[in-house]
Amino acid sequence: MSVTTADTQHATGDIEQRVTALLAEMTLAEKIGQMTQLDASHGNPADYLGERLRSGRLGSVLNLADADTVNELQRIAVEESRLGIPLLVARDVIHGFATVVPLPIGQAASFNPDIARDGARVAALEAARTGVNWTFAPMIDISRDPRWGRIAESFGEDPYLTSVMGAATVEGFQGDDLAAVGTIAACAKHFAGYGAAEAGRDYAATYIPERELRNVHLPPFKAAADAGVAAFMTSFSDVNGVPATGNEFLLRQVLRDEWGYEGIVVSDWDSIRQLWIHGLSEDDRESAYLAVTAGVDVEMAGDTYINHLEPLLNDGEIDIARIDAAAGNVLRLKYELGLFENPYTDPDALPPIGSEQALATAKRAALQSVVMLQNENSVLPLISEELASVAVIGPLADDSYEQLGTWIFDGDPGLSVTPLEAIRKLLGDGAAVRYVKAMENSRSKAGPAFDEAAEAAGASDAAILFLGEESILSGEAHSRADISLPGDQAELVRRIRATGKPVVAVILAGRPLTLTDIVDEVDAILFAWHPGTMGGPAIADLLFGIESPSGKLPATFPRMVGQVPIYYAQRNTGKPATPEKAMLIDDIPVGAKQTSVGNVSYHLDAGYKPLFAFGHGLSYAEFRYDNIALSASEISIGDTIIISADLTNAGDVAAEEVAQLYVRDLAGSTTRPVRELKRFRRIHLEPGQTVNVRFELHTHDLAFYGRDMKLAAEPGEFHAWIGGSSEADLQASFRIVDNQAGD
Ligand code: BGC
Repeated sequence: MSVTTADTQHATGDIEQRVTALLAEMTLAEKIGQMTQLDASHGNPADYLGERLRSGRLGSVLNLADADTVNELQRIAVEESRLGIPLLVARDVIHGFATVVPLPIGQAASFNPDIARDGARVAALEAARTGVNWTFAPMIDISRDPRWGRIAESFGEDPYLTSVMGAATVEGFQGDDLAAVGTIAACAKHFAGYGAAEAGRDYAATYIPERELRNVHLPPFKAAADAGVAAFMTSFSDVNGVPATGNEFLLRQVLRDEWGYEGIVVSDWDSIRQLWIHGLSEDDRESAYLAVTAGVDVEMAGDTYINHLEPLLNDGEIDIARIDAAAGNVLRLKYELGLFENPYTDPDALPPIGSEQALATAKRAALQSVVMLQNENSVLPLISEELASVAVIGPLADDSYEQLGTWIFDGDPGLSVTPLEAIRKLLGDGAAVRYVKAMENSRSKAGPAFDEAAEAAGASDAAILFLGEESILSGEAHSRADISLPGDQAELVRRIRATGKPVVAVILAGRPLTLTDIVDEVDAILFAWHPGTMGGPAIADLLFGIESPSGKLPATFPRMVGQVPIYYAQRNTGKPATPEKAMLIDDIPVGAKQTSVGNVSYHLDAGYKPLFAFGHGLSYAEFRYDNIALSASEISIGDTIIISADLTNAGDVAAEEVAQLYVRDLAGSTTRPVRELKRFRRIHLEPGQTVNVRFELHTHDLAFYGRDMKLAAEPGEFHAWIGGSSEADLQASFRIVDNQAGD
């Protein structure tokens, strides 16, 4: 098509002028088209979407990742439609594209925003080759329930860690310039509170008091908005009785009015129509009304906007200004992405899939994501020179697909290096490797292969078990009520233990698991999450001491599922448990009086502590924290304070440690968590080296929504801890004094 009036008008000026000029040219149907996103995953989308594109009634597609097909759709949109508006092409690029980096929960375990940023960058470069220009990531839902399968896609339980990792992911996808080749738009999801699904059952309702929502669930979204994230996606779930997709409080009051967010708000898959299924609306028309007035700009994979926005407008129920704002948000992103200048994709302008740099990024991420949970008698690292043979056992030792984890639509198992391959390569001819898969998959039952595995272990100097969950056991709609090792894995562990050989468990999983059954049956545990393409080489390097483990837990590991929700930043209660006052079930004398067990907050059969605490993670080095110091013992509102401590590597290998700063506000207008992570830093230390770790906090870092629901730091006493986990005991105290009195 030749140059139209619209082309000449919208081709000049700054982006706002171009958006306004283009909107002025558009019909209502074309505007509603921009608010429509349809699935393009089957057949030839040019056949079934072509007509919509030609008539300007489709603004974006999802689930397409093929440059030729995308270019053809763009060509139809740009050359054969009246106004020539290019398409947004969306895809779930969650943790890598063809090259897969660790699950987000694993990235969070690195406590290193560079890992998230670099991983997202690699993913953007690979995805952009296919014409994808918008990803539905990062997922920044606070996840305090490991039963919830989507904890895999999250950065765990902590608002601060999630904020830092989420913002870094946005930076990685979007870079400094959305129009640059190889950057793609990001999307903060799922707004909001999705991770608090009752019983960890995906899509279940959530009940989150406003103060908790603001103090815990919303901060990562605010951080993503501040990082310039191009879009927000609504959550599927019901939040306090109003499903998020029709929730004006969240989408209008908080996001637009309070935060001033100007990007796109997209629904989740068909979640507008589902407002009716929730019971919020009577029919699709009312669902469309509720979503559009609440502030949803784009409907994903549904037709309520297609069918009902025009009648709603004609009947005066909605205003054209709302439609213009929504369509304008979509157009603005298209301009920012440079799609009007260049709608087409040239894969050759981008690095190849699985480039050396992509694989190196994936390996570094995997290395830093693995958490060493225990290491009895320093059984790790294994010393290759001292081993004549090793048994490699288990369903996840050599599975190039399962190590990638959930949400890997485009992941290429062909690029994977499995742990077995990497161990064989690392040991070379130096040691015999006896491999027994023992179980067909992670859910299998005991069988004759268990004998074979025990024989292999018995004949070897050490046994390494690769256990955990297949990728299908976590992710969307894959929640579990029992989060122990599935199938007969615990029995396999016992069989191997009986050989008397050193036993190392490497666990690949999409969530924290209850490992109570096996902790005493193995010497060491490396928790590797689903580590992605380069999981094998990373794990092999850690097992054999080429690198030291340095990951820390981004989510609490319960002893038993009945403890859930259990997270470190809990409130104190009026009767907190102590070791003396939490008598366990087997220690209670028969006939004891009701009050004799202590009347404190705990479970008789699980105690009050988790199996492994948030922030926990061991190293081959030995880290010591001393000399905590404060720059002042009192500060005023608006001041900063520096809290520091000496960190020493008292071990004999170089390693990285994640130093963590926790704070407690002792008395507030509302009660505050017993600890909150406020800062962290990953530091490399040579043996014998001491570093003074300094963390700077401003009083706004201590602000929270208190009794009056306003964000403010409150005067009073604070405790601060610096250490290697949420159980750090090196503590100092300071006060915020009231300098506002009389103001
Ligand atoms: C998920 C989203 C995802 C979307 C598109 C939904 O089912 O909840 O996280 O981005 O599908 O695939």
